[in-house]
Amino acid sequence: MSKHNKQEMVVRHKLFDRICHWFIVAVGLVTFLTGFSFFYPSFQWLGAIAGTPQLAKFIHPIAGLMMCLPLMLMLVRYYHHNKWEKHDLAWMLAIKDVMFENEEKIPPIGHYNPGQKVLFRAFVLTSITLTVTGFIMWQPYFAPYFSATVVGWAIVLHAICALIMLMFVMVHFWMATWVEGSITGMLYGKVSKAWCRKHHPLMLDEHSDVEKH
Ligand code: HEM
Repeated sequence: MSKHNKQEMVVRHKLFDRICHWFIVAVGLVTFLTGFSFFYPSFQWLGAIAGTPQLAKFIHPIAGLMMCLPLMLMLVRYYHHNKWEKHDLAWMLAIKDVMFENEEKIPPIGHYNPGQKVLFRAFVLTSITLTVTGFIMWQPYFAPYFSATVVGWAIVLHAICALIMLMFVMVHFWMATWVEGSITGMLYGKVSKAWCRKHHPLMLDEHSDVEKH
């Protein structure tokens, strides 16, 4: 890459956050596969990833915690990028132009667009609820401290939240693959200024301190 091109790059994701993100994806896969294997009888075969159904049950809460704790840390670190801003409403009202990629009609947006901000809130709610309910239903360590009714409700909430999170992860995956250059940004940390101008034009104004490399 020429010196000129290098100067056109800005940091969008720091190394620590990228490690966190891909670690979450890896352990998240194990969590969802093992969880589905014993929650829904027709998905029992998914437990093969752990070897036996007993091992799947043992691994699932540990993998779940290994997913949710770094996720919560990442959400805290990304909080400031996900606050609602005045220009978000204009973007939402122009959602049709966003979907049909009528670029000249899309109102400028900052570091994250409102769609990503909704996903952010969904990740906050589901990661906290999954962790709390997961502890309440964790046999044989924590569940004996709660009544059967509380454990029963925890199981229901846990299953609902897992489905909601999975749904949002699928939307997140779709958005990440739809916006060209987004995954490269999460892999290598940097995006070009041209990419910012196209997808998140206000990001360059918001962060006059963006690191240049
Ligand atoms: C293979 C699956 C996944 C892919 C390809 C992917 C891709 C991406 C990409 C490209 C970004 C950066 C977006 C941008 O710069 O605008 C990102 C951010 C993020 N991802 Fe993922 N991701 C995946 C799975 C997950 C999962 C499972 C979670 C958590 C449940 C997650 C949570 C996040 C969070 C919290 C951010 C920070 C951005 C924000 O606040 O919205 N990702 N992901």
